[in-house]
Amino acid sequence: MARIYCHLRRVLICVCTPCIVVALMFLYITVMMCMAMTGKRMPLGLIHPVENNHFVASGTITNKSFARYPETFWEINPHKGAFWNQLQVVVDRAFNPILRPNMFKRVSENSMFHKSLLRRHFSQVIDSDSTRRKFEKLPQQLQDFMSHMQKREYPTLNQPGGVCGAGANYEKEPPLLLLAIKTTVLNFKNRQAIRKTWGQVGWIAGQKRNSSRGGESGGYVRRVFLLGKEDPEELGVDVSKLLRLESEQYGDIIQWDFKDTFFNLTLKDVLFWSWFSRFCNHTHFVFKGDDDVFVNTLNMIAFLQDQLEMQQENKTLQDFMVGDVIGAALPSRVNKSKYFIPDSFYKGFYPSYAGGGGVVYSGLLAKRLHNISRRVQLFPIDDVYVGMCMFRLNAHPVYHPAFLTFDFPSKEEEEMCSYHTILLVHKRSPNQVVELWAHMKNTQTQCWNVTLRDTNKGKNKVKNKPKLIVPPK
Ligand SMILES: *[C@@H]1O[C@H](CO)[C@@H](O)[C@H](O)[C@H]1NC(C)=O
Ligand SMILES: *[C@@H]1O[C@H](CO)[C@@H](O)[C@H](O)[C@H]1NC(C)=O
Ligand SMILES: *[C@@H]1O[C@H](CO)[C@@H](O)[C@H](O)[C@H]1NC(C)=O
Ligand SMILES: *[C@@H]1O[C@H](CO)[C@@H](O)[C@H](O)[C@H]1NC(C)=O
Ligand SMILES: *[C@@H]1O[C@H](CO)[C@@H](O)[C@H](O)[C@H]1NC(C)=O
Ligand SMILES: *[C@@H]1O[C@H](CO)[C@@H](O)[C@H](O)[C@H]1NC(C)=O
Ligand SMILES: *[C@@H]1O[C@H](CO)[C@@H](O)[C@H](O)[C@H]1NC(C)=O
Repeated sequence: MARIYCHLRRVLICVCTPCIVVALMFLYITVMMCMAMTGKRMPLGLIHPVENNHFVASGTITNKSFARYPETFWEINPHKGAFWNQLQVVVDRAFNPILRPNMFKRVSENSMFHKSLLRRHFSQVIDSDSTRRKFEKLPQQLQDFMSHMQKREYPTLNQPGGVCGAGANYEKEPPLLLLAIKTTVLNFKNRQAIRKTWGQVGWIAGQKRNSSRGGESGGYVRRVFLLGKEDPEELGVDVSKLLRLESEQYGDIIQWDFKDTFFNLTLKDVLFWSWFSRFCNHTHFVFKGDDDVFVNTLNMIAFLQDQLEMQQENKTLQDFMVGDVIGAALPSRVNKSKYFIPDSFYKGFYPSYAGGGGVVYSGLLAKRLHNISRRVQLFPIDDVYVGMCMFRLNAHPVYHPAFLTFDFPSKEEEEMCSYHTILLVHKRSPNQVVELWAHMKNTQTQCWNVTLRDTNKGKNKVKNKPKLIVPPK
């Protein structure tokens, strides 16, 4: 009897213990889920860690009229109803490394796959009646954009013959820097000013500094201009012959066969990456900028040489992107703005991105961006698009205070050496660029020991700052 009882007890323990454990776990999970559902929203910083951010758009945290980040993990698509998000969520899911671990391998073997995926979902999203009506309410230029959104192959009309832009003959080492400048056919004067000043190619000695290299540094610089085409009918004249001449003369023009409009600028990035991956294998860095900026090329070279030195100690160049970083920005909902994006097109924040005139990144990153861009739907604002690609590479642009997107603070510009402390300033006209370049040459000896602008120091120290010769503005 006792033995039977004992046996029974053992069976009971064996059966019941797991039951109790399972029941407790169930209870725990239920309680956690309820808490998550009713609980407070997580602070934004936790979900979206933004480091090195210089600028955070106001109203980001509190304004509920904008779409938000998912509050709970089962809220799969919080930005439903916006065209871009709808198109992208399908692609992102297809490449989710947890859901589909083999996708990455399959895809690198077959790039056709990307195209069919991007296209298929585009027609699915657009084909229903309600979305068609929504589409027709978009501003005209967004409609233009959307109807060409899946097309990324455009033939080149002009390009440097098989080399990585204009450079010096017989370069003895791989180029340090490729200047890739977005311009339009009609901005000939901007291009010419750049060619004569900060965009000179060949061997360029960097700004001499007290570095471990003992001040000796420099590198080969190459240059290329990125253009679309003008519509001869709209313009009333066909300027393509002029550009062909210019291209033959300088060898620094890449022109693609698409209309050069603001919303088509993203194509320049995507097509440039593709060209770069093909022709510029060993180029260390890319500066991508507008044609209305002034770049302190000597500082840039010294700065990049430092980066090269640092990466030998720790390999960080594959994520290297530096500029004026804008974090947690929201799309402009002002319908008169050039940047207007209605919420039927895009909902949510923009990822951190480097904006305003120019950014520098590594050649390695350019190639990675080329690869990842095939999985990111085109977005009408080019800087934001680059940020979206960076986000999917899990790379973050880094803010550097020497990129002056919004010009010098107050009167600092008038100090003699102010232009020696920067990497870039936006905006300057072609005439100003030429005058500034002369000004830089004239003040080189006085300003040799000035350092780059630095956030930690607040205002820059310029030794014996004589007030002076106001640099042209
Ligand atoms: C949120 O943004 C919208 C659109 O810009 C604006 O109309 C509204 O006043 C803002 N609300 C708050 C609480 O700031
Ligand atoms: C880009 O993708 C190709 C294959 O599609 C792969 O061979 C190459 O290594 C990738 N490059 C980078 C930098 O990720
Ligand atoms: C620059 O170099 C000189 C001599 O080599 C040294 O005395 C000085 O401390 C250096 N300055 C900086 C800022 O490194
Ligand atoms: C972009 O270029 C294509 C090809 O020239 C053109 O059809 C389209 O309208 C352009 N998109 C925008 C938004 O201007
Ligand atoms: C590009 O350079 C890398 C090493 O820097 C080399 O392994 C690779 O084969 C090169 N690719 C091409 C297409 O030349
Ligand atoms: C990389 O090297 C630089 C310079 O030596 C150093 O300041 C930095 O902390 C290093 N970064 C990491 C992640 O080790
Ligand atoms: C811009 O918004 C205003 C007010 O919301 C509206 O009256 C106007 O028609 C809009 N303009 C365009 C071009 O959509």
